[in-house]
Order: sequence, then C-alpha cells, then structure tokens
Amino acid sequence: MKPVRKVVIPVAGHGTRVLPATKSIPKELLPVVDRPLIDYVVNEAFEAGIEHVVLVTGRGKGAIDDYFDHAFELEAGLEAKKKTAILDSVLKTIPTAGALSYTRQQRPLGLGHAVWCARDIIGNEPFAVSLPDVIIDGTPGALAQMVAEYEKTGGNIIAVEEVAKNETNKYGIVAPKGDRSGSLFEMSGMVEKPAPAEAPSNLAITGRYILQPEIFDLLEKTPCGAGGEIQLTDAMDALMKAQPFFAYEYEGVSHDCGDKLGWLKANVSLALKHPEFSKAFAGFLKTTS
Ligand code: UTP
Repeated sequence: MKPVRKVVIPVAGHGTRVLPATKSIPKELLPVVDRPLIDYVVNEAFEAGIEHVVLVTGRGKGAIDDYFDHAFELEAGLEAKKKTAILDSVLKTIPTAGALSYTRQQRPLGLGHAVWCARDIIGNEPFAVSLPDVIIDGTPGALAQMVAEYEKTGGNIIAVEEVAKNETNKYGIVAPKGDRSGSLFEMSGMVEKPAPAEAPSNLAITGRYILQPEIFDLLEKTPCGAGGEIQLTDAMDALMKAQPFFAYEYEGVSHDCGDKLGWLKANVSLALKHPEFSKAFAGFLKTTS
C-alpha cells in the first residue's frame, strides 16, 4: 500500500459567503485569532506526515504564495530591532524549500475541478484533500488521525462529525453500509442536505479526505452538477462503486470559517484556548455577555 504523501488544498474559490471581507484578500488568509486559515490547515497536514502540499490557486490569490515565502525587509527589520520572538513566529510560516507546489485553476468551476487541476502533481498515488476554510480543532489533528486509519485499511476515507439530528439539512450526510460500529466504518453513499426524517445518519462530511488517484479519471468525466460546478461528491459517488470507501469520525471539533457565523465562533473558541491570552479573553467575554 502506497503512503499518503501529498495533500491538495484548493484556494481558488471566490469566498462569496464572507464578502465583503474577501473582496480584496483571499478567504484563506482571513485570520483566526493570530494566524490565517491556511496556516492552520497546512500545519495540520505537516503534522500528519504529509511531505508535499499542492495549492490550487487562482486569480487574486497571490498573497497566499507570499505568506509561505521569506519577507526579507520585514525579517531584517525585526532582526535589527531584536524582536526575536516575533521574527521566529514569522519564520515558522515558511515550509522547507520544495515542499509546496502551486497550480492554477483559471476559473472557479467547483471543488471537483479544483482537485482535478492537481492531477499531474499528484500522479499515481493516494493523496489527501483538505478544505482550508474548515479548521478542525483536534489532538492529534484530524488528518493525522485519518492517515493512521488509512495505514490499517487503505481505500478512501472521508472525515465526518456528528451534527444535531434536526440540522442534517445543512450538510452533506454519509450513509453507513449496514450497521455502523466504531469510529471507522464502510459507507454506501452520501446525501446532500437531507431533511432530518430522510437522513441516513447524522454524520456530516467536514472537509478532509483521503482519496485514490482513480478519482482523477472520474472527475474528468463528471458533468457539471449542483450550481453548474464540477462536484467532488459526484466523482466520489462513482468511485464508491469500484473501491472501498470509509467514513471516519475523528476526535475534534470543526469550525466552518467559510461562513460568517462559523468564522466568529472559531475565533472565540480558539481564543479561549490560546496560551497567551485565553484568561484575559475569557474575562473580557464575561464582562460583555
Ligand atoms: P467553498 O465552496 O467553501 O469556497 O469551497 P468558495 O467557493 O470560495 O466559497 P463561497 O461558497 O463562494 O462562499 C471550499 C474550498 O474550495 C476552494 C475554495 O477556495 C475553498 O477554499 N474552491 C472552491 C476552489 O479552489 N475552486 C472552486 O471552484 C471552488
């Protein structure tokens, strides 16, 4: 079984749900507490043992490339002023040379199309996909948990999280194959935003995947689906007919920061855990509520 060495992180979308904040900056650079979204997701991938990150980027997203590069004037200035701790935090954002590739999705034709754009860089090996607007607060990180499961089972794995039974209509929900037991189980399908009475489970798809390279041929053949976009879900549905597909309920909590309320909740939740100012922030919240 080949190991999971690469992750595709699509960053070419327009982020319309968080406009106007994303009118002139990429959604993926919105800060949560003291770091941009993309930083959380890239770190989660490296923590999982991923060796190579493929960013599928697009027009107006150049600031993301700069985030992962040296900023010589800034670094020289910090060094001259002996602001060592701040300099260290800036240098920590830069991955090993060659561990990051960029490819371009010229038009945002959907998540499935964005993943397909990475096909030549991924080649014929299993790979992960991480959505950068979803932060998963877990120890170890969700992707590390998934890679550990993958090493036992192979196949394809979708990360899921339990949601309230009366809220299944807000999410993509997985259907377990037979009786579900344990946190990793085989699945038979996915249903987009089912009404609670029709939902096959209350386990929602949350933005982390491990996929086999055969998905690329299927993506190429996938016609435009919902919203006129090429949907990753449609190609996964087709792959499920040919290969084992698992859902994995990770330990942790996700925050959908592609949505204004989700982004606000992520800030509050992670600020309350931040080693430097959790106490002061908790005190502040008490005075405002
Ligand atoms: P989203 O659907 O959450 O992002 O896709 P979006 O399209 O930017 O957001 P809205 O719906 O307009 O508010 C999840 C991730 O996939 C990327 C996005 O950049 C985001 O990080 N994506 C989406 C692409 O790279 N290309 C696409 O065509 C669509």
